[in-house]
Amino acid sequence: MKVLIINGPNLNLLGKREESIYGSMGFDAYLETLKNLYAEDEIIYYQSNHEGDIIDELHKVGFGGVDAIVLNAGAYTHTSIAISDAIRAIKTPVIEVHISNVMARESYRHTSYISASCVGTIAGFGLDSYRLAIEAVKNMIK
Ligand code: DQA
Repeated sequence: MKVLIINGPNLNLLGKREESIYGSMGFDAYLETLKNLYAEDEIIYYQSNHEGDIIDELHKVGFGGVDAIVLNAGAYTHTSIAISDAIRAIKTPVIEVHISNVMARESYRHTSYISASCVGTIAGFGLDSYRLAIEAVKNMIK
């Protein structure tokens, strides 16, 4: 199984950014943990702070490049019709992920423009949300 994790804006600062919400582990270190856990699978990673670049990446892998995409669109979750449209446009299933429980935070985080375009959403389990999403992918494609 091949899975692409896409992280959106400010998620390159995990480990340094609002640690009380997002934790103290950087994503590179967490990715190593995930890769060790799923050594038989291929987990690839892309991060961008730019909406159009995220859309380009979705287009690039969205027609057969990977089995599934795990997407944390960061704040674009709450603003981006363009990313939502891109998810609808591609063939590869996308799982929405959030580290924090967005529904327990500010009201502007309660709206997701991308949820309805995704297979499902996992939120609120810290970095473990990504592992749970990969478990969901495994169950989905077997
Ligand atoms: C986030 C939640 C978003 O509201 C926020 O803008 C992020 C991170 C999360 O993983 O909890 O950047 O997607």
